[in-house]
Order: sequence, then structure tokens, then C-alpha cells
Amino acid sequence: MTTVLGKPLKRRDAEPKLRGDARYTDDLHLPGLLHARLVTSPYAHARIVRIDCDAARRTPGVVAVFTGHDLLPEGPEPAERARHLLARDKVIYAGQPVAIVVAESPYVAADAAALVEVEYDELPAVVDPLAAMTPEAPVIRPKELEGEWAEAGMHATVSGGEELDVRRLPANVTNAVRFQRGDVMQGFASADVVIERTYRTPFVHQAYLEPHASVAVPRPDGGVTIYTTTQGQFYCRNVTATTLGLPHEMVTIVPMEVGGGFGGKTVLLEPLVAAVALRLGRPVKLVLTRTEEFLLATPAPAAIFELRAGARRDGTLTALRARVIFDSGAYPGAPVTIALLLLGGTYRWEHLDLLGYEVLTNKPGTGAYRAPGVPQATFALEQLIDELARAIGQDPLELRLRNAARTGDLQPNGVPWPPIGLVDVLERARQHPLWRSRQRRPNEGWGIAVGGWPGGIEPCAANIRLNHDGTFTVTLGAIDITGTHTVLAMIAAEVLEQPVERIRVKLLPTDGAPYAGMSGGSKITYTVGLAVQAAAEDAKRQLLEIAANELEAAPEDLELVDGAIRVRGMPDRQITLSEIAHRSMVFGGKYAPVYGTGRSVVRQQSPGFNAQIAHVAVDPDTGEVEVLDLVAIQDVGRALNPALVEEQVHGGVGQGIGWALHEAMRWSENGQPLNPSFLDYDLPKASQLPPIAVELVEVPSPIGPFGAKGVGEPPVVPTAAAIANAIADAIGVHLSELPITPERVL
Ligand code: MOS
Repeated sequence: MTTVLGKPLKRRDAEPKLRGDARYTDDLHLPGLLHARLVTSPYAHARIVRIDCDAARRTPGVVAVFTGHDLLPEGPEPAERARHLLARDKVIYAGQPVAIVVAESPYVAADAAALVEVEYDELPAVVDPLAAMTPEAPVIRPKELEGEWAEAGMHATVSGGEELDVRRLPANVTNAVRFQRGDVMQGFASADVVIERTYRTPFVHQAYLEPHASVAVPRPDGGVTIYTTTQGQFYCRNVTATTLGLPHEMVTIVPMEVGGGFGGKTVLLEPLVAAVALRLGRPVKLVLTRTEEFLLATPAPAAIFELRAGARRDGTLTALRARVIFDSGAYPGAPVTIALLLLGGTYRWEHLDLLGYEVLTNKPGTGAYRAPGVPQATFALEQLIDELARAIGQDPLELRLRNAARTGDLQPNGVPWPPIGLVDVLERARQHPLWRSRQRRPNEGWGIAVGGWPGGIEPCAANIRLNHDGTFTVTLGAIDITGTHTVLAMIAAEVLEQPVERIRVKLLPTDGAPYAGMSGGSKITYTVGLAVQAAAEDAKRQLLEIAANELEAAPEDLELVDGAIRVRGMPDRQITLSEIAHRSMVFGGKYAPVYGTGRSVVRQQSPGFNAQIAHVAVDPDTGEVEVLDLVAIQDVGRALNPALVEEQVHGGVGQGIGWALHEAMRWSENGQPLNPSFLDYDLPKASQLPPIAVELVEVPSPIGPFGAKGVGEPPVVPTAAAIANAIADAIGVHLSELPITPERVL
């Protein structure tokens, strides 16, 4: 029978995308479509004194200009509402939208936006997160604004830890979490070596190619349909509806192609565009400019790690103490919990004390970016492990192997790790020729680092039906940015024992789709795949039942062949799938057997760990670093489609190179963005990437479909640390800050 899983099939969306047939949101041209353009604040922190829209409104072709007070009723604005609408009385970062101009053409809208005059009363801004925690720092958002906000389950990844009462913490601290195990002071006392280091990582942009784009169409029933570039139609709908105060069913999200997301395309200004369209009774399109992407979209947060760690000469890791500060930008929500869990959960520390803060500053609100929080934490942790190894005279890989978390070991939140392949990827690294060929050569070095992602999870469902032509259609509420639809078709084909060409996969708008989570957190193949598997099994049972009835045979005597079911060994006693479809209805609808939130989620995760080996050459005169080779060895549970899995790892390492050597968003002391464009923001070019070799390790997940684990996030995690460790090996320089630029190497 067809065993399609494990084959390197091409992505189904590859050809349409390469041919230019894929339709993106900006390709939509509807009758009567209006075009919107934002007016953004030049100040990082200021009161809005007055907005004069007269000149803009008088411009021929302009239909309307709205300010923050025009669009929605007054009242408190929790961050999750404020960040998706216009500022009202105060701006809290440079680039924050303060008005929106709507016109018959995008050019008129842009010209008119330049005519909107805003008078500001500038306030002191705070850009540095440590300064933002001091008593004299300006207060960015009063804490009582946050109120209750139903988390729509964006990643639903982690939980646990003691949440500190933020009302007792400095003004701009919005969240503080602590994990403790044992007694770190005792751990340090029993160590032979104790090392203390501070590491910093900057804001990093997801740098997707397609800007955010939305088209909102008002409906006669008072609702709104939004075509948009989102990684998750349900999440986008939930936030949009809640922001606008509409019942969820009044908002329909039609997910379009996503030209790159990496966590940055969840929900941004959909609520604003919808509010404008509803007010005007006409469809409205908003496409952000590239500069606006840097000004007001949701990059990865900067972080500071103050670490103190102890080890004994026998290779025992005795204690890790961490004080971690995530710079959330203007709105709360940095991934501090997950960073702490990986910081303390990757190795078997005897004693732990991990304390993390999320702090507001006058910079754009941050958001998810591939393995949120973990590349940052790993840059710090994995260099410290190398330093400990050196200090106790152990090989860095052997020290890692000895202490690496095993299945069942407790994470800092007390939950045991599900099957985890950390030891397995390290074993493979140990055997790898690039690691074995290490030698002393001037200005060359080799580094290793590991890192992972616990795996996202979210309840979701999928439907499948048999069509009259004997094919099947799988319908989903999950979009495809990483080739997931190809893999989901393969899962259905495997269960139904049919060629994969018989399986069509269709994604639907929220109105009509079975619920699925965001394409994020490395969870679509893992969880929607489970739902597809269950739905296909349901359909198969029905098929066999119907065929048994029609063929007057026992179901166990039947076999599925391409397009038909027959009595085993009797080719003439068969019924085609098409005949079955004409006589009966075959429909499978199932949810994935995974559950809501909290500790059960953590137990059901699919941790994906990755070991990377970097070989670098450093020019001691210029500080220039050249990565000569990079090997990524990842546990993927089971590679359902090895080609797609390898592409994911390859792309993730490419972004890891960006974190390591290139990328950083920068602001002046008063919060002026210094590099908000691709000209000034240093993104690695394809020609600057080293040869990247990908190796897959398969430690099956007991839950994931056919053993698969989430794959997308882990590869970005250890790259920067592997390169930093290789540089230390080459020239003995310890890096404390990303990106690793020549001046930091010297
Ligand atoms: Mo993501 S940060 O899982 O797109």
C-alpha cells in the first residue's frame, strides 16, 4: 500500500508561488475599494495636544480622516486593545499611529496623510529597560489599564512559576516570574568554580518580505469580513472582535497567502481597518510601508541576562541563578516564562533560582518571533556552559552530554520533560566529522551549542469528506506558511492508504472552518496533523463499513487500494471510492486529542532540540568573523516529509546567522528609530550564509502524528551561541552582546 510518509515530496504551494499565481492581500481589487494611510507619531513619548485634519480632509479624493477619539467609544484601553487602534491622548513610541486617512487612491491617501498636522507635548522617554525600572523613570502605561484580557491562545506553550505581584514592582514592570529549586547559595558553596556573566541581545525584526496588508469589507448584517495576511485566522478574529466589542461571529477572517511571518503576522491593525470600513460602509485596504513595518510592527524583544552558575570538577552543574529582563517595548507580553524554562530546563541543575521581568520602554510593542525568548536565553546560557567547561577542564560537548535533560527530568516548573532528544542530538554531534576534525589552527575555532523549543499545542479540529470523483477534501482552519498542507495531505493519504494526489487540502475562513490554532509555536503539523489523522481514521472506518455492506464481506477481509476497496485476494469483488460517494456520505470530523491550558499542555508538548556546530575564522586585525561551516542536528520526532523538515531547519539557521552576526534594531536615547529600513537594518544576504548542513534525528513523540514533533522554532535557537563559542575557541574573546560585530570581537 501507499506509504507516503517519509517521502521528500515538493510543497504543493511551491509552483504557484514561483509562477506568481499565489494571491496576496495587496492583489485584491474590489469594486469601490478605498485606500488607507497612517499618520504616525515622530515622538517616542508625548501628549497629543491637537490634531488638525482640515487640510487632509479638503484634499480631492480624500473620503475621511479619523483620529483615535473618532473611531471608538471612550474608556480604558488595555494594551491588547490600544495596540491595534489609534493613539488617543498619548503616544508611547515613535511610529505609533495617531490618525488614518482614507482616500480613493493610495497615492492621494499618502499625500493627504502628510497634511495632517499634529501638535505634541513631548514627554521624557525611556529606551533602556534598566532605566525604565528606576523610580525616576517616566511611567509609560499605568498598570491599572491592563485589566482582564482573554488570551486567545497564541502559543499556549508554558505555565508555572510564581507570579510576583507587579503592583509592588517598579512602575514599568508588567510581569515578573520566578522559578526556584533547592537552594542556590548551597549550590554555589558546593561548587569548585562559580562564574558570573551578563549578556545582552537586541530587538530583532522578523523581516518578512510581504508587509502587513488587510482589506476589510463591511457586511449588510453589520459584521465585517477581513482579508488579511495572518498566521492564524481564529486568533486574528478573536482579537479583532474583542477589540471592536463585536460578537466573534460578526467578524470573519479570510486568510490570504502569507509572505513570511515568523511570528510577526498574527494580528496588528485588522481591528483599525475594520473599524474604518464599518464606519464608512465601504471596503478599505491598508498596506504598511516598509518603514512602518520597522516602526510599528512587533519585533522580538531585547533581553538582559545576569547569570551566576557553579560547577564541580567532576562535571556536576550545581546551581544557576538568573535575573532576566525582557524589554517588551510599549506593550506587555514578552516571553519571559518560556525563556526561564529553557534557561533552567535544558540541563540538570541541582539548584535553580530564576527570576524574570518584563519591562515597558518607549519602543514599539514586541511580539512573537520564531522560538520567542529562546534564542536570547540560549545565547547567554550556552556561552556560560562553555566557560564552565573550560574552567573545570572538561570538553564542552562532554559536559553538555553529562548534564543534558533527559526524558522525565523535571523542568523548572516541576513538569517532567516529555520524550526529549537532547542527548541524542549531542551524541550525533560528537560523532560528526566537523566536530571530530577540530584542531588548533591560528584564528580558527569550533563551537557547539544546543537549544530547543518545548513545542506549542492548542486544541483544533479538521474535517474530511469523500468527493464524487473518489478524491478526499480535508478542510482546515489553519493556514500554510511552512508547507504544512502538503504534510497534512500526506497524513490523510497514509491513513486512508491512498495516493497523496487523491487528497485535497482546503483552508477556510473562520466562518465555516473547523477551529485551529495559529501557524506558530511549531504546532500545526503536530496538532492539526493529529486532527487530520483522527478525521481520516474516522472516514476510513465509515468506508470499510459501507464497503462491507455493499460487498457482503466482513470489514476485516477488506483492503484499500488506489481509489477502491476490495475483498482481499479477490480483485473482482470491489467497489470504487467514487461508487461509495454516490451511494453514501463519508465524512470524518475530529478534534486533536490535546487539551486546553496549564500543566496538561506542558505534558503534551513535543520538545524539539537541536545541536549546532559552527566552524569560524576570525580576522584578528579587523574583527571580521567568517562562518566556514555550520551543522544543525535536530530531533524532529519523525520526519513526515524530510525535504520540508530540512528546509525549515535550513531557514531557521539562516535567521540564526542574522541574530548572531547582523541584526539589531536601534534607537536614539530619546526613542528615535535609527535603522527602520532594509537599507540600514543589516539582514544577512543569501550570499553571506555559510554552507549549512542539516541532519535529522528521530526520537518519536508519543503523541504527535506518526511520532512527529514540531520543527519550525528550534533551528533558530542555538546558532548565535554556537558561533560565539567558536569565536571564543578561535581567539579567546568572550562575547556578551549580540550581534557579534567586528568592534565587539576586537
Ligand atoms: Mo512563530 S514565533 O511560532 O511564528
